[in-house]
Amino acid sequence: MLNNKNVVWHDHRVSKEDRLKLKHQKPCILWFTGLSGSGKSTIANAVEAKLYELKKHTYLLDGDNIRIGLNKGLTFSDEDRVENIRRIGEVSKFFIDAGIIVLTAFISPFKKDRDMARDLVDGDEFVEIFVDAPLEICEQRDPKGLYKKARTGKIKKFTGISSPYERPEKAELHIKTDQMDIEESVDIIMKYLERKGY
Ligand code: ADX
Repeated sequence: MLNNKNVVWHDHRVSKEDRLKLKHQKPCILWFTGLSGSGKSTIANAVEAKLYELKKHTYLLDGDNIRIGLNKGLTFSDEDRVENIRRIGEVSKFFIDAGIIVLTAFISPFKKDRDMARDLVDGDEFVEIFVDAPLEICEQRDPKGLYKKARTGKIKKFTGISSPYERPEKAELHIKTDQMDIEESVDIIMKYLERKGY
């Protein structure tokens, strides 16, 4: 770890409040968590499209895409997953500061790390959305063929198979994707945002 005791935080001339005035929206992090294949990316994409229609300023951070760029080099060891989520939490905080509604779609398997991301922003700026489908269903869907590889040992430390997933206990929203379609899921999230004044 680098010694950064000579690094000093600078306040910016344009504040968060200034930026919010231009945006006419209340920023938040919509934190989608769940097993691979549970539907996080699909629902996050659909919610972002709805928000775009409403002329809201958004940005979607998605597990696979972020691991191709910003977090290239991080593995799926527990330690690297912690670092993956730590960085996403910090990046999301910047987006909040910029007045953007940020959607994150990461397995984020550990409760402690999700809570850490939550604690980086104000209480009402973090909306945890548990995208829940039983492992058997995710495995049947297997959109990328990864569960099959995990079962035959070609992928090590695969979430749900050989690496744990800690279910959220205080998620603001719990979406059961084996019991409703995408449209209904999106509707629940949009209604929540409306009710809470975002
Ligand atoms: S997290 O655990 O660190 O939050 P993240 O959401 O970034 O995971 O990445 C998950 C995606 O990486 C999965 O959707 C899947 O496509 C791919 N992946 C590759 N290897 C693994 C693995 N061992 N465990 C889980 N997902 C994996």
